Amino acid sequence: MLELKNLYFTVPESEENSGGSRNIIDGINFTFDDGKFYAITGPNGSGKTSLAKLIMGINPVSKGSIIYDGVDISALTITERAGAGIAYSFQQPARFKGITFRDLLMIATGIDDENKILNILKRVGICPLSFLDKEVDAKLSGGEIKKIELATTIAANPKLAIYDEPDTGIDLWTIGPMVSLLKKELAESKATTIVVSHNRSFLEAADIVIIINSGRIAYSGNLEGAMPLLDDLSVCTYRDSCEGDSDAGCYR
Ligand SMILES: Nc1ncnc2c1ncn2[C@@H]1O[C@H](COP(=O)(O)OP(=O)(O)O)[C@@H](O)[C@H]1O
Ligand SMILES: [Mg+2]
Repeated sequence: MLELKNLYFTVPESEENSGGSRNIIDGINFTFDDGKFYAITGPNGSGKTSLAKLIMGINPVSKGSIIYDGVDISALTITERAGAGIAYSFQQPARFKGITFRDLLMIATGIDDENKILNILKRVGICPLSFLDKEVDAKLSGGEIKKIELATTIAANPKLAIYDEPDTGIDLWTIGPMVSLLKKELAESKATTIVVSHNRSFLEAADIVIIINSGRIAYSGNLEGAMPLLDDLSVCTYRDSCEGDSDAGCYR
């Protein structure tokens, strides 16, 4: 169970308003139950990535606390949180020259057995031969790097996995299988899955939809109940304009 208690992430104001501060995450209280699938959505710049990074320890907690399985992890390092079973899949994954996907998987999982590595790839639906020896550098497409990031996160067998916009740059045909994969992993591992996304497939798959607006939780509950607010915030532009449309510019 992950509890966010009166959580704040505060940064100094921009130079023009020097001296002030801004609450990017503005007093969030929420409990994530084990084994559930959560989708976090909300307008651009509302604080979704900032919240995910607070949970992983990439952003420091300014005020409040994060309690994981009864332990206050607010002051723990990223590595200590990873050791406790929390994993984060970046919205914009890093690229490394000279490092192959095989190296990355081995570093992430500590596994150096070729057969086990191949099994992980099969599990996440990546064709081993075409991917394993690819360098995770600038030459990879946005979609490829996201698939690699996803596989690396899943391979670490986290108890709590946070995926930040895993569908960005992914072809439309891959989104359905990606949702199924995360649901299947969840069912098998009894982990908690948090996906930050605007995509309807993820919102529909979620047990609980959370809407973040201006650093606060504006809604949590089922998708049906979220729709009026999503329309209001123009998060789900697909509703009128994108229905049945395969335009990749639409949030579908
Ligand atoms: N470390 C930081 N310092 C200053 N501003 C930040 C920092 N991190 C995020 N922000 C700002 O906080 C807001 C929310 O960012 P983010 O959490 O990335 O939004 P989202 O993921 O919802 O699109 C944005 O205006 C962003 O520029
Ligand atoms: Mg973001």
